[in-house]
Amino acid sequence: MNLIITGYGRMGRLVEKICLERGHKVIARVDKGGSGDYTDLSLELLSQAEGVVEFALAEGFEENCRLYGEAGIPVVVGTTGWYDKKEEIASLIKEKGGSFLYGSNFSIGAHIFFTLTERAAELIADIPDYDIMVTEYHHKMKKDSPSGTAITTGERILKGCPRKTKMQFDKLDRQIEDEELHVASVRGGHIPGIHRVYLDSPADTIEVSHSARSRDGFALGAVMAVEWLQGKKGFFSVDDFVKDFFKL
Ligand SMILES: NC(=O)c1ccc[n+]([C@@H]2O[C@H](COP(=O)([O-])OP(=O)(O)OC[C@H]3O[C@@H](n4cnc5c(N)ncnc54)[C@H](O)[C@@H]3O)[C@@H](O)[C@H]2O)c1
Repeated sequence: MNLIITGYGRMGRLVEKICLERGHKVIARVDKGGSGDYTDLSLELLSQAEGVVEFALAEGFEENCRLYGEAGIPVVVGTTGWYDKKEEIASLIKEKGGSFLYGSNFSIGAHIFFTLTERAAELIADIPDYDIMVTEYHHKMKKDSPSGTAITTGERILKGCPRKTKMQFDKLDRQIEDEELHVASVRGGHIPGIHRVYLDSPADTIEVSHSARSRDGFALGAVMAVEWLQGKKGFFSVDDFVKDFFKL
């Protein structure tokens, strides 16, 4: 496929590497900050491509989307920070008959982890002997906690195991309640991201764990998503892609 990369920062460069490895051609790198071949998207440029992968920043996002919609080109968006405008963007894309897929986590491995976690939570749902909890570890530069991945992990546990009704992120100065799911964050060192789910009973512990080694997984998932998007019309989330891909 002939692809355009919007946002040629850390993620954009990884997307280019994966595109080339998978036999695609990158015909343009568009970056507002000047690190690509173009600073602005245009209909003329978009008309030469079969797909776009965007990992940029939220500023200027709507303008990019207007052009994607206008061009009717399949676009995969990893850019975050615009979800409060999701409704507007969705109607803009649908109105023009475009094809758009977004997600805050494109890592295929993370989605396998979410699926295994939800299934594990379902399996212990009616066995109160098993408790369930989550820990996550990230490098000392990370500015937020818990991670978005930890929150999604917690949501999938609440879905799979209804006797857990709420997540508890804080330090506890009391006993945890049975219906609470503890999600604890540790910060330090250089860890790209470790998420662990523990299913613990008096007899044993089962662990489901995901350790990211690099950001390559996000780029690979985004490129696989733009391949999947070919021939489809509509406004999709990464979950639609993952469910279809893994036949869930
Ligand atoms: N969905 C995922 O799986 C996933 C994974 C990692 C990062 N992200 C998100 O991807 C985005 C980029 O992350 P990064 O680490 O590559 O950031 P970065 O700062 O290294 O790169 C962003 C680049 O986008 C350019 N840019 C900003 N606004 C633009 C616009 N409107 N049009 C074109 N270019 C624009 C900047 O000049 C910069 O070069 C962030 O929103 C981040 O949260 C998503």
